[in-house]
Order: sequence, then C-alpha cells, then structure tokens
Amino acid sequence: MKQLIVCVMVALAAIASVAQGNRADYRVVPLPNVINGIKSADFKLTDQCLVNYPAVNRDMERNAAMLSQYVEELTGIHLSTRPCRDAKSSVSNQDRSGNISLLIDSKVAGDEGYSILVTPRGVEISGRTAAGVFQGIQVLRKSLPAGKSMQILLPAAQVAGTPRFGYRGMHLDCSRHFFGVETVKRYLDIMALHGMNRLHWHLTDDQGWRIEIKKYPRLAEVGGWRNGTTLGHNSPVNDGIRYGGYYTQEEIRDIVRYAAERYITIIPEVDMPGHMLGALAAYPELGCSGGPYEVWGQWGVTDDILCVGKDHTLQFVKDVLDEVMELFPGEYIHIGGDESPRVRWQECPLCQQRIRDLGLKARGKQSPEALLQGWFTTQMQQYLSNHGRRIIGWDELLGCDIDTSATIMSWRGAEPGAQGALQGHDVIMTPVGPLYFDYYQTDKTWNEPTAFGGCNTLKKVYDFEPVAADLPADKRHHILGAQANVWTEYITCESQVQYQILPRMAALAEVQWLQPEDKDYQDFKARLPHLVDIYKHYGWTYRAKSLTQEDEDKTDN
Ligand code: ACM
Ligand code: ZN
Repeated sequence: MKQLIVCVMVALAAIASVAQGNRADYRVVPLPNVINGIKSADFKLTDQCLVNYPAVNRDMERNAAMLSQYVEELTGIHLSTRPCRDAKSSVSNQDRSGNISLLIDSKVAGDEGYSILVTPRGVEISGRTAAGVFQGIQVLRKSLPAGKSMQILLPAAQVAGTPRFGYRGMHLDCSRHFFGVETVKRYLDIMALHGMNRLHWHLTDDQGWRIEIKKYPRLAEVGGWRNGTTLGHNSPVNDGIRYGGYYTQEEIRDIVRYAAERYITIIPEVDMPGHMLGALAAYPELGCSGGPYEVWGQWGVTDDILCVGKDHTLQFVKDVLDEVMELFPGEYIHIGGDESPRVRWQECPLCQQRIRDLGLKARGKQSPEALLQGWFTTQMQQYLSNHGRRIIGWDELLGCDIDTSATIMSWRGAEPGAQGALQGHDVIMTPVGPLYFDYYQTDKTWNEPTAFGGCNTLKKVYDFEPVAADLPADKRHHILGAQANVWTEYITCESQVQYQILPRMAALAEVQWLQPEDKDYQDFKARLPHLVDIYKHYGWTYRAKSLTQEDEDKTDN
C-alpha cells in the first residue's frame, strides 16, 4: 500500500511538472508593461483552437498565418486560421469562443501597442493597427514553452505593452562581408522576435558594392568583387581569394516584402561621398584622380572618395538614388557621410573650382572642404526631399552645415546625438559604446571570435539610456530611438553574426521598449533563459557565457 501511495505521488508529481512545463509565461523579453493575472481557469491551447481574423483585412490574415506558423514551429501544435465577418467586419463573440482571435481595436494605446486578454473562453490579441497585433503575437509566441506539446495552458490574464521608441533598429553591414538572401531574412526573423521595426542595411562600401543598379551595371559586376581580403586586423597577409556578391533588384524586392510582412521598414544606406571605392573601381571617372582604383581588400578609411567637382558625379548619385527609391518605399534613405577624408578634394582642381564657384570660405572649425561636403549632402537631401523622402546621415554631418531636416545617427558616442537634438535634428542613438555589436562582449577576449575591439557587455547594453539626462524637455522628442550596428570586417558567416547579436539584442529590446524606471537588469537576466530556449529551438548561435553571473563579475566591474 505504502508503495502504491509513493507511486501515485511520483506520477502526480510527474504530471504536475509536465503541466508546469507546458504553461505559458508572459514575463517575456521585452517585458510587457502590464501583466494582470485573472482569477480564473487557464485557457487550453490545443490543435482544436482556431486563429480567427477579420475577413476583410489582408494584414490580419497574414498575421493569423504567422501566429499559426510560430505556434507550430515552437510546439508542434497546428492551428488552422479562419476568416470571420460579423456586423462590424470583426470576429463575433460566438466565433471567439474556444479560439484565439486577432482584433483591431482603436482603444489600444499606441500605433504598435498590443493587448492580450486570456480567459478560459478564449484569447484575444488586439491592436490599434495590424502592426500592434503583430507585436502582441510576438509576445504570445515568446510566452510559449519551446518543444513538442499536445496542449499548452495559458494562464488567464490581461497583458499589454506599447514601445517607448518608434525607431527600434538593427543595422547589418553586407559590404565588408556579403550575406545571402536567406541570412538577411533570418536576421529579420530575429528582429521580429525582439519587437524591432527598422533594418538599416549597409549596402555599399570600399570593400564591395552590393546592390544591382540597372543604369550602372559595373557597380555590382565590378564593384561587387575584391581580389582578396587581409587576414585579421589589416595584417600584411592577404588571402588572395576573390570574394564578393550582390543582391539583384528582384532579391531586394523580395527582402523588402519579407520585412514589410513583419512590420519592419528597411532603410538602405548608400554611403557617400566617402566609403565609395566599390563605385570608383567600377567607374574611375567618379574620383578626383580618375584612378585606376581597386575594390579594397583591407579595412579602414581610404582617401579616395567621390569627386564632387564634377557634375557627372552628382548625376550619377541621383541616378543611383532613383533606383534605390524605387526599391525601398520607406521614408528614409541613409546617405552615410561618415569618415570622408578631404585630402583629394584639397588637391583636385575641379573640387577647388566648385569651392570657388560656391563662394565657400572657412568658417570657425569648418574648412571649405567640410562645407563642400555639406553642399553635396544638401544637393542629395533636396533631391530626395523632392521625391518625398528624408535623409539620415552619420553624425559627421553636424560639422557640415546641414539643415535640420536631416536625421542624425549618433555613432561617435552619445554626445553628438544630444548636440544634434539641441540643434533641432531628429536623432537615432547608435553610439559605439555600447551599441556597436561588432565589438567584443567581454574584456576576456582570448576565447572569443575576432571582433573589432572594445567591450560592450550585455549589461552595458541593458544600462544604456538613449535620452541624455540634461536634454531639455522640449528637445527630448527628437530622440527617435536606438539601434545597434553590426559592421562585418571580422564577421564572415551567419553564425558569427548571430553570436555577436545574441543575446545583446534582447538587452537592446528592453532599452527600446521599456521606460527607464521599468528596467531591472536582474529581472531581465531571470527572464532571458526562456528567450534563449527559443534561440536554441531555432538553431541560432548565441553567446551562452553572457547568461552567467561569473562572466559579469569578471567583465563589468
Ligand atoms: C561608422 O561606424 N563609421 C559610422
Ligand atoms: Zn575632385
């Protein structure tokens, strides 16, 4: 008898632990603003449940398909989707019973805010927009235990969230190393899981031009390939292996569509007038000396930049931008502007003639050549503005007399961003410390893949505050958000990309979503392992050591 009781107890404990394991937990990353438990029974998620959506709404139809796909990927539970049409083109109460329903509800706060209501009778995921509903879907997805299951218990609760910042970005450099369409799509998948909505796609640089431009085919065919790559941090050894690739316009359209389906806008960067060796190798007449030039096989900043003394160069850039605008429908085009040495312009008769024609004279710290870069950038800004677009540029533009319609990306620290906001520029914070994810994640670097340098730990990323404490109240709205940058000089493959971004993206997601007073690093660390279970489930590479206390003790003190 005693033995029987023990057996029953063991069996009950096993059932309880399965039930526990199969229970959703809404304390995900980024943390919802509201998680109010409701004293009621759980909702049972099984393959009998449907995902309802309002029949008239194509975005919601795709959202429903996406939720069904996520649940199946994570748990094996297949949910069919069902278009519903009640009197208000929504989902009737009767249809909601026993199912998950996706709803548009104007009462939900924020354009990307979400509300999830779980009762024993059903689950409702609402947003003011389909984008908000998608964010709610991500939260429900992340709350699920990863692994095969027949049934998942969703505790009755009201869960809601709205992001702190409208711009929640990640950047990817596909010039220094080239990543194929599937890798870029997976990058977008990872962004969606973390509630991010802007991909800053660095497509052109000295080491490779990666976007097909029909009017200038040599950009991709010649500028997309280098004859070898230096080993390590500009060692004397070059591997001598021809390296390159580019995205066809068809592939770019496919990626832009894929991103839009995940409510992510892609901001393409065509860096100018520096970082242009790819273009100069293809069309040497665009440079001051006329070349010949080679696509670069080493890292750093080259003196060879576009010659803006030639009208032909301006026409070339406008032609390129025409095709870029055609491919990328978002408001913003990134025109770079960083690390643009002016020595060639100082020596170039045509650039000097342009300076004289424009009457540019040294002003304070600004040389005539700095003002020439400002003039060139303004030409492109006006061209894009005439086509209904806006520019983003790196913070060097603040030294070039550019008007405040340019949004500034603050990378040389947070100070230029604060300065830009004071001057009236919109600003996106991407300071090298701590938002360059090509930097090391620890100061104990000997077991790490080669990185740029520096040390941006998980904790430093988590503790980052995008809005300077002393920024006046009437300027704070200029800080549109934050973004991490992933330069790929030393990142050669997809799993290394993932290692650099995971789990630092999780910390960044809380910076982007939570108000500072709601952030708590220890609480975040306690919630992180479940998100990491999802990384593992999808087979993504991540830095496991960042999850341990020991790593922090060594690095952050
Ligand atoms: C940059 O890192 N050169 C913007
Ligand atoms: Zn020139």
